[in-house]
Amino acid sequence: MSKVLEVNDLVTKFYTLDGVVNAVNGVSFDVEDGETLAIVGESGSGKSVTMMSLLGLIPMPPGKVENGEAIFMERQDLLQMTPAELRDVRGGQIGFVFQDPISTLNPILTIGEQISETLVKHKGMSKNEARDRVIELLTQVGIPDPDLRYKAYPFQFSGGMRQRVVIAIAIACTPKLIIADEPTTALDVTVQAQIVDLFKRLRDALGVAVIWITHDLGVVAGIAERVLVMYGGRPAEIASVKDLYESPKHPYTVGLLGALPRLDSRESKRLVSIKGAPPDLLIPLAHCPFAWRCDYAFDRCWEEIPPLIEVGVGHHVACFYDMEKGGPRNG
Ligand SMILES: Nc1ncnc2c1ncn2[C@@H]1O[C@H](COP(=O)(O)OP(=O)(O)OP(=O)(O)O)[C@@H](O)[C@H]1O
Ligand SMILES: [Mg+2]
Repeated sequence: MSKVLEVNDLVTKFYTLDGVVNAVNGVSFDVEDGETLAIVGESGSGKSVTMMSLLGLIPMPPGKVENGEAIFMERQDLLQMTPAELRDVRGGQIGFVFQDPISTLNPILTIGEQISETLVKHKGMSKNEARDRVIELLTQVGIPDPDLRYKAYPFQFSGGMRQRVVIAIAIACTPKLIIADEPTTALDVTVQAQIVDLFKRLRDALGVAVIWITHDLGVVAGIAERVLVMYGGRPAEIASVKDLYESPKHPYTVGLLGALPRLDSRESKRLVSIKGAPPDLLIPLAHCPFAWRCDYAFDRCWEEIPPLIEVGVGHHVACFYDMEKGGPRNG
């Protein structure tokens, strides 16, 4: 199977008045053709900065992508592209959906004009050709009365309907990859479920690969094939959804899973949060970023940064402790 995206050792920092924020500290992962990869982790773990770095959307300054490569479609390195080349890829071969549809949509353009714009820009369509395609797209994302809605403005739509419009823009040019950064967080719970369903339906119909960012491990099982767990701007664990849920290898993942409300338990309503606070990204680390919060940390965890190693087929973890063995991992 071919790879849509291969990210190697991405490092992104922000040079602020308070100091250097080490936001992304060596992130590597890949996404295969048609696959959905979920990226999970607490607030501040570097999920959005990772994606913004790939899309060339990091504000520079204060941000700087200092290392890494991001090979798209086994050919082009996104990090080496000129701003014009990246603008072409963004919205063309890579669609994106962010948390807040309001920030993506232009308030003074009609819905129809905004979706057409993408088609005219990336596909070279005439306005007339684009119009037919826009009606088709609005129907595809479940917006009723598309002919009428074409002429509406974003403020005339509910949050869920706006997000459907953003999704229509994201899929308009039949991208190879869609990056969705917490696309349901700003929506009501019932609307969230509808948007997740719509996403799954479109993904299957279009065969497009998706990176789905969330801090909710609960929705991951329903949407993704694989999961990347991030901690302190680093990958903590990468595995198939099944392996991650059945045999998590990183104490942080175990904590995240423990924080999920259990359907089969009497305490179904109680959310357990992981003790302690995330690392201060202003301090460059020379040891495991999770050591402070980890029940299993031993000497080595305070002396070295654990590299990401493969511990099972396709199962990678950055941890010196082997929970199954009950002691330090070999090697
Ligand atoms: N423009 C910026 N200037 C300085 N620091 C920034 C900037 N943008 C992001 N950061 C910092 O980078 C770190 C990673 O942030 P990021 O937004 O990637 O987290 P996240 O995992 O997406 O969190 P959330 O779940 O809250 O969206 C944070 O410490 C954040 O404060
Ligand atoms: Mg984010």
